[in-house]
Amino acid sequence: EKGTYPHFMLKEIDEQPPVIRKIIQEYQDDHDNIKLDPEVRKAMLDSDRVYIIAAGTSYHAGLVGKQFIEKLANVPVEVHIASEFSYNMPLLSEKPLFVFISQSGETADSRSVLVRIKELGHPSLTITNVPGSTLSREANYTLHLHAGPEIAVASTKAYTAQIAVLVILAVDTAQAKGINLEFDPLQELGIVASVMESLTDQKETFEKIAADFFTETRNAFYIGRGMDYFVVQEASLKLKEISYIQAEGFAGGELKHGTIALIEEGTPVIALSTQKNVNYSIRGNVQEVEARGAKTCIISIEGLEQDTDTFVIPHVHELLTPLASVVPMQLLAYYAALHRDCDVDKPRNLAKSVTVE
Ligand code: M6R
Repeated sequence: EKGTYPHFMLKEIDEQPPVIRKIIQEYQDDHDNIKLDPEVRKAMLDSDRVYIIAAGTSYHAGLVGKQFIEKLANVPVEVHIASEFSYNMPLLSEKPLFVFISQSGETADSRSVLVRIKELGHPSLTITNVPGSTLSREANYTLHLHAGPEIAVASTKAYTAQIAVLVILAVDTAQAKGINLEFDPLQELGIVASVMESLTDQKETFEKIAADFFTETRNAFYIGRGMDYFVVQEASLKLKEISYIQAEGFAGGELKHGTIALIEEGTPVIALSTQKNVNYSIRGNVQEVEARGAKTCIISIEGLEQDTDTFVIPHVHELLTPLASVVPMQLLAYYAALHRDCDVDKPRNLAKSVTVE
């Protein structure tokens, strides 16, 4: 039920802090350490390469998850769009582990990959919000998102839940391998939940930015580098699917290789800067598009901010920034759709779970 909310999407955006806290609780033992199915841990330790398979928003969560698993646990990861896998099947390593990320657990594109890799005899793990779903039943192992039902077609809390569970999976593997991490992941996730709350408390700010940037426009661009590049891809999908604005998320460094030709007087460009190593370069990209007439907005993070930034996200651990930075993006998309009189929860031509290939 929506309760007092006008739309499920807004309710689900607001549910993100409690969902993160629920995940911390579900994956924590009595000594505040990570608790994970020992079979999943063994599957991760036995594997020499992880293949993440997903679609849409879940694919975008997979792109972030790859960074965690590679950087923390030192296991190589490939992320594949489910529908492309059969045509562009990579050479598999000797001991692959397939990880299916799916809110619904019913996505046909992902299922067809699962059927195929099972025939080849490879192990599989499904990370899903619906434990009894097809992908969950048919895979060897399941990790539950604990996000509660997601009704709006535009996925929000499932994305952040997927990222949180992927952090836990990566940290657990790292710890099992004896890798010493210099941060307490569950504590950092707790900080993320509070920061998310402060973001969802500032809805008017994002409503105003959306009114200003998206009410009239036909197109919009998001730019980011590194971790932020993954989040801007998700930001643009969110905007497209519910506001019907033609949107794209670019890697800042790619602008000069072609896409900057699309910038005209007044083209909206939203830049995200939450990573120290790219802060300087992404700001350079903003100047380049401004010089060609773009209407720009910078969303940055405490510690990297400048006076002219439109919004500054409170500090979170640098690896976990997508969990915080996606919230303004979700709210921008939500208000853009609202200002354009779109059906927020049920956008045209889309279904909540895509059970056809
Ligand atoms: O249920 P799944 O996570 O497998 O769904 C995958 C995509 O269909 C889904 O994320 C879709 O892109 C959403 N509508 C995005 O908001």
